[in-house]
Amino acid sequence: MRNIPTNSLPAPAKPSLPTKAELPLDLTGPHVTPGASAAHRLYQALCEMIVSGLVKPGEPLPPSRTLAKQTGFRRNAVVIAYERLITDGFAEATVGSGTFVAARIPARTAEPNKPKVIVETPGQGAFALGCTHIDERALQRFRAFVGRRMRAFGPEHLHYGDPRGSRELRAAIADHLLSARGLRCDPDQIMLTSGTLHALRIVLSAILKPNDQVWCEDPGYPVARKTIAHCGYRAVPVPVDEHGMQVAKGRSAGPNARAAYVTPSHQFPLGVQMSMPRRLELLDWAKQAGAFVLEDDYDSEFRYDGAPLMSLAGIDRLQRVIYLGTFAKTLFPGLRIGYCALPERLIEDVTAARAALDRFPGTLMEGAVADMLNSGAFAANLKRVRKLYRDARDALAETLETASDGALLVPVPSQGLHLVARFDPSVDLAVAARAKQAAGAEGWLLADTYSRAPPLPGFVLGFSGHAVPQLVASAERLARKSRAALRTRNRSARRP
Ligand SMILES: Cc1ncc(COP(=O)(O)O)c(C=O)c1O
Repeated sequence: MRNIPTNSLPAPAKPSLPTKAELPLDLTGPHVTPGASAAHRLYQALCEMIVSGLVKPGEPLPPSRTLAKQTGFRRNAVVIAYERLITDGFAEATVGSGTFVAARIPARTAEPNKPKVIVETPGQGAFALGCTHIDERALQRFRAFVGRRMRAFGPEHLHYGDPRGSRELRAAIADHLLSARGLRCDPDQIMLTSGTLHALRIVLSAILKPNDQVWCEDPGYPVARKTIAHCGYRAVPVPVDEHGMQVAKGRSAGPNARAAYVTPSHQFPLGVQMSMPRRLELLDWAKQAGAFVLEDDYDSEFRYDGAPLMSLAGIDRLQRVIYLGTFAKTLFPGLRIGYCALPERLIEDVTAARAALDRFPGTLMEGAVADMLNSGAFAANLKRVRKLYRDARDALAETLETASDGALLVPVPSQGLHLVARFDPSVDLAVAARAKQAAGAEGWLLADTYSRAPPLPGFVLGFSGHAVPQLVASAERLARKSRAALRTRNRSARRP
């Protein structure tokens, strides 16, 4: 009798399904990771083909040798891809029969009609707020500092760090605060954040309970108000007069408040400087109420006439005031580095709150920003852009006054990067809205910065980071449209 080796026994009858010679494989679509191994890309393409129904459950996949020929991949890559398909449940193997699409595969749910997601990004046209200019020389120095720091990249970047950020940059900021803002503090009291709102959020979470009241200026910075509401606190609008936030009104509107958010050096948006009696009244309230004042000192480096008053935190010696600062205006917003200076008694709680939120700030840019401060490049940039901003402010204010022929009142701010242009208070708000829309102007309606106080008709217009000719052309247009909107209103008011 002839011995027939078992490995040459005739194979059991194959299922009647046809063997596919060519698969409709797409090896370049978005489902494939470019640069991944051949086996991985093949696996991704096979998955996509199976899940999208191009081959049906139970259908055979071609022998590995055939697929290798079709795709130009090595056979080993095909075998690995098939093995992974089997492990993940997309395919099944029958000994001697080959590999088949699994009888049940994860069904791809039909894509519902997705609602269009609209994410607004801030505009950058003339009058857009928050734009800045960085001098070319400063930018070159910054690039050089970043390059040098990256080349010297060391182990300090490879670990989790201090929730307050690098001591080197905190020390440089402490020096800047002392010389520029009369605020004496230890680097230990400074925490780096990714901007003012981030600092606001961290600090409030350390000092407040959900639903606590926070006094906010009315009119005020609507973005900060939104942050406060987002975090689950109650923003209590407190009216502002020519001396700043009216503390007595705060006491009655929010008697249980534990915090106040203010812009004392240059009230946003009206531009008034909080008077010394009002500052002392606010600090007295904080002491009596056991509350804290958050001082947003967002644009004090841009003072055009005379010396600024010392910061509120400087007057208070960081007892009840938390100072918030940012490089978004002194350098550029995309840097996303801001900071707060804390009363000593809050360091532990605020540090813990920060660690619980996002551990610690990214370390890669800190050194280069410290170099900017320590080398004098930061101060030199400020000196140069301050001159640019002053020219832009003057050109904008003058054009609005002249071209509006008295329809707009434009007080020239002695500090900052925006101005307010107002109609007479008797003019209804719709006139300002109509003029802004007709002019296609960026910036804000003054009314949008109010909460409860009766809003004034007018505009909040940014002048930093925009070329003067563009500002002038846009100002002429806005002034023309303002006059036209006023005329329309007057005509309809005269109609019987
Ligand atoms: C009143 C006020 N505070 C703070 C900031 C800066 O915020 P951030 O540092 O989060 O960019 C701005 C920016 O325009 C501002 O207008």
